[in-house]
Amino acid sequence: MSEPPPPFRRTDLPVELRVDDLLGRMTLEEKIDQLHQCGASDTNPNNLALRPDAFRPTYGSFIVGGSPAVLEVRNACQRRVVTESRLGIPAVFAADVIHGYRALAPLPLAQACTWDPELVRRGCALAAAEARAQGIDWTFAPMVDHCVDARWGRIAETFGESPHAASAFSAASVRGFQGEQLGGRDSVAACLKHYVGYGASEGGRDYVYTGISPQSLWEMHLPPFEAGIRAGARTVMSGFNDLNGVPASANQYTLTEILRRRWGLTGPVVSDWDSVVQLVNQGFAADDAEAAEKAFTAGLDIDMSSGLYRDHLAAHVAAGRVTLAAVDEAVRRVLRLKFELGLFERPYAEANALTDAAPDPGQFALLEELAARSLVLLKNDGVLPLAASARRIALLGPLAADSAPLLGCWAQYGQPAETQSIAQALKERLPAGVQLRVEQGCSIQGAASDNPAAAVEVARESDLVILCVGEDGPMSGENASRTTLRLAGRQEELVQAVAATGKPIVLVLVSGRPLELAAFEGKMSAIVAAWAGGTRAAAALADTLLGRRNPSGRLAVTWPRTTGQIPLYHNMRPRGRGGDQGAYRDMPTTPLYEFAHGLGYTTFGYGALRLDRTEVKPDGRLVAEVTVTNTGACEGVETVFWFIRDPAASITRPLKELKHFEQASLAPGASRVFRFAIEPRRDLSFPDDDGRSVLEPGEIILLVGGQSASFRVTR
Ligand code: GLC
Repeated sequence: MSEPPPPFRRTDLPVELRVDDLLGRMTLEEKIDQLHQCGASDTNPNNLALRPDAFRPTYGSFIVGGSPAVLEVRNACQRRVVTESRLGIPAVFAADVIHGYRALAPLPLAQACTWDPELVRRGCALAAAEARAQGIDWTFAPMVDHCVDARWGRIAETFGESPHAASAFSAASVRGFQGEQLGGRDSVAACLKHYVGYGASEGGRDYVYTGISPQSLWEMHLPPFEAGIRAGARTVMSGFNDLNGVPASANQYTLTEILRRRWGLTGPVVSDWDSVVQLVNQGFAADDAEAAEKAFTAGLDIDMSSGLYRDHLAAHVAAGRVTLAAVDEAVRRVLRLKFELGLFERPYAEANALTDAAPDPGQFALLEELAARSLVLLKNDGVLPLAASARRIALLGPLAADSAPLLGCWAQYGQPAETQSIAQALKERLPAGVQLRVEQGCSIQGAASDNPAAAVEVARESDLVILCVGEDGPMSGENASRTTLRLAGRQEELVQAVAATGKPIVLVLVSGRPLELAAFEGKMSAIVAAWAGGTRAAAALADTLLGRRNPSGRLAVTWPRTTGQIPLYHNMRPRGRGGDQGAYRDMPTTPLYEFAHGLGYTTFGYGALRLDRTEVKPDGRLVAEVTVTNTGACEGVETVFWFIRDPAASITRPLKELKHFEQASLAPGASRVFRFAIEPRRDLSFPDDDGRSVLEPGEIILLVGGQSASFRVTR
């Protein structure tokens, strides 16, 4: 008669009972090892094969990635964990699948310009299916930091400057990654990062101090994390940043008071890479042991890569500095995640059609939709869509024939060879008889081989120039801060030299951030922010330039004229003086392109803004409507943005705050009523410096489509 399985092995029991049973069987060392995370790929110094001492079968989680054979590395590691450890507790395997695995979508900042959370959800679902097929159980995404400084390379990973929009995309991403049921073939655990305030990095530098007022923390930085948790996100990652003097990875107020007591997160919080040991560099801990104690007692559950929990927690428990109950609670969160992922029943990942597979046409269609909808037409004097009269086209610039930069940062699994370049996509689509000549003119960052004159020569012999400039993938993302948004290398020289030919220029920008265009913007006939649009960026761009697609992207960040204007964002607080007092003396204080700016190939007319009442009680409801008509000649997608302005409050309010957005596709001549049903407690309140929601009586101004109307909140 075989022994009945222990309760933790029984799938008929509730997860909490299984967790309790397993926890009761574990030694302190086994518990602490569950709180250790290290690398398990063949490009990581913690690699199991290279450093057997780095591996213990009782470790709780591993980061895979870098190596192409992720599934093999993952299952080999899991086999050792399950067979060599006393209790056979499976490990959970994580990776950075930020905007796709091998089938890459546009960067998150670009995806935010689609203003289509459902489309973004679908992109994350595709990424989850691909990641799962490599044996990845947990992705370190979505990144939902708030940033208004494009010198910071990681702005590329954010969903832009509006907390309302970032919250919508955070929730959509979580639903896309986690799907209906964690542990399914197409779902991975999401991880909201980098909690919290990392995007306010001083000077746009990385890993530095972030001075954020408590009220701004609640108003600008916390909402997308709360939205992600409300959408069911299972995990959170703490940031590198020193948050107002108490680093985010050891901040009791944010990690325990807010995440646990206010928001009820039940899953684990993992540190960022070495952010526990970095507490010593930041001057928050005297040594490694103190760093481990401070991070853990603040509420950080898993130590990524530094090893300080593994090396010091047992001693802290023995000395009474850390309680066993606290260790148990952290381990409980890790075990709960593993049970929810089904890892005890299915510890090994199985290959399927998506494993190490090139993206297929079905995936291409979604990637192209995401890339096309994220693209923002910033300027157009009518040169776009390209007319049939353009018989000789010069395709110039370092991004014209190089496909790798289109993948952007965090694209380590992407395959440039599977990614069409802009030149290839245009050649495929241009009508017969149209001459396309391609000349790089210069590199992205400058090289001895740069030859702008060659590009200028091709421009002279053309009817029209498409000039592709910007950044390569590593120029945005982590540890990619820049002192200027200006084009790198000799690109600006190339732009000016080509502009001097007098030929009409369509400027295509491939980047992870807004770029400084002030010196030549006026000389361009059209400007397209194509961002790093992913595997199918070139196809989407070519279809847009040729008029097969009508661009509908709208900026999710303010686009400054120059770096010197930073920070410049739509939801700034008003200044004390009017007119030009307080404005810059050397340049307009307005941005080059406003938040939510974007052009298309059709036009939309807005009817009169209508309110169903002019007063509303706190628990009442006010319905605002506007009728939008496609007044142009082709179908188009219009996004209607509803802003509020609270002109007088106990805490100063932004010049305007996005509170609702809605999108629809309209045929030429078609109209649609867009509605914003305002619920004051949800839409008109604001947080105080401890996150309490404040709703005050008084005037509110509603702004939509260039119109405004006032109403009052009454007691
Ligand atoms: C990095 C990044 C973080 C990433 C983690 C694991 O330093 O800050 O976004 O998820 O380490 O690679």
